[in-house]
Amino acid sequence: MALYSEKVMDHFLHPRNVGVIEDADGVGEVGNAKCGDIMKIFLKIDDGVVTDAKFSTFGCGSAIASSSMATEMIKGQPLEKVMELTNKAVVEALDGLPAYKLHCSVLAEEAVKAALKDYFDKNGIPYDPAQFPEAPSCASCEMH
Ligand code: FES
Repeated sequence: MALYSEKVMDHFLHPRNVGVIEDADGVGEVGNAKCGDIMKIFLKIDDGVVTDAKFSTFGCGSAIASSSMATEMIKGQPLEKVMELTNKAVVEALDGLPAYKLHCSVLAEEAVKAALKDYFDKNGIPYDPAQFPEAPSCASCEMH
């Protein structure tokens, strides 16, 4: 069996939503201290809905595929839905990642959440801080 699914390869070779949104309503940047990969996600939000999402990822193929899939999954979604995005859902949408690459998808979840938090902060929108744990990404990951 191939190491990476066709979907992972497709999103790695033809990533969707690559780029920057200059006037983004929320920007989230996260990094993995161990591998040095960095992911930045930009959101346009209108009336409680993510109307556009873009990403810049300096990282491995799995991180790029995860960012691409995550941005596709959240576009057009209400913020409550976007808050519920998990790395597990991203991995499932990609038809799986090798176990030692699962942590790369965590970056996508964290970058999306960081962008939402940035949006809430900038607009004075109250939220439960427990929804945005401070734990740095992959802090406990021993896979690198
Ligand atoms: Fe660093 Fe994938 S995110 S190896």
